[in-house]
Amino acid sequence: MTDDLLALQHATDAALAAATDLRAWDAVRVGVLGKSGSLTEKLKGLGALPPEQRRERGAAINVAKDAITAAIEARKAVLEAAALDAKLAGERIDVTLPPALSALGLIHPISRTMDEMAAIFGAMGIAIAEGPDVEDDWRNFGALNIPAHHSAREDMDTFYLPGLNGEARRRVLRTHTSPVQVRTMLGQEPPIRVIVPGRTYRADHDATHSPMFHQVEGLVIDRGITLGHLKGCLIDFLRAFFGISSLPVRFRSSYFPFTEPSMEVDIGWNRRTGELGGGGDWLEILGSGMVHPKVLANCGIDPREWQGFAFGMGIERVTMLKHGIPDLRPFYESDIRWLRHYGFSALAAVALHEGV
Ligand code: PHE
Repeated sequence: MTDDLLALQHATDAALAAATDLRAWDAVRVGVLGKSGSLTEKLKGLGALPPEQRRERGAAINVAKDAITAAIEARKAVLEAAALDAKLAGERIDVTLPPALSALGLIHPISRTMDEMAAIFGAMGIAIAEGPDVEDDWRNFGALNIPAHHSAREDMDTFYLPGLNGEARRRVLRTHTSPVQVRTMLGQEPPIRVIVPGRTYRADHDATHSPMFHQVEGLVIDRGITLGHLKGCLIDFLRAFFGISSLPVRFRSSYFPFTEPSMEVDIGWNRRTGELGGGGDWLEILGSGMVHPKVLANCGIDPREWQGFAFGMGIERVTMLKHGIPDLRPFYESDIRWLRHYGFSALAAVALHEGV
């Protein structure tokens, strides 16, 4: 082999040894074997030689090329093995370390609203009470001053259940959370301050009604409770819940058999944009009133000594309004994409509006 080819072989070996990663290795390869690499240039020079020299020179170049190619491939194998080792070392997991916890799962908007209500009313000193979904006729209707054949029973599209053996009172799926008013008054002495979040049922199913939905009831009983207390409590709640300190709130005279006087409560919004607050339009949001003296008496509380107010509102409705959720049905479909969009991190604090 001629000196220049030996020199090229040594120079390539040295360059390969100095190449410590695949990128540097490839530069060496291209510099020797590439289109205008140093060995390729030597091959190109063959054509200029006289035929008798050309054969000998060609054979020598080929020998050098084989050796150089072998050296280049060998270096590649070494560098690839080293790269793999480095990658594996970088991905090494220390199984003795404590696990890195990520917040998995999301809070459903219904649960979030209930948590917020518990926080806001809780700050007013109001506790949480609960009752069963299956009620009897008397607690759901009778004790609440809704006699048999009263139109309110039809309005509520009640699901009736077969009575238990020997039981006079028919069972129903509660049509509102108001029967828990009755349970609470029968179960504890006044003063009473509770909210009752829970499931309610009506035989009604369309785009804006589900046969199962949620309500929150409120009941406050004490001496000297007036309409002023009801209004203050609900105005503070609504402004805190919707996070709008200037939210317009209107009390409109209405009728419920279990309250007297009764009032429906509207909040200000813009019907065209759907934005809450100003806008000049009114949106009905809940029912309320002073607990009817007959209801107090039915529940063993003397209406001459104790007065109270009550309210009830739909949880889905206020949740949809607060978060701009357009459709009711996905609330119950457990579609993970919907939940990822509208759900809340379990770690997100329930913020209380200032002034509550
Ligand atoms: N129970 C009523 C309803 O479901 C709401 C309500 C509760 C109204 C308490 C007044 C007082 O529509």
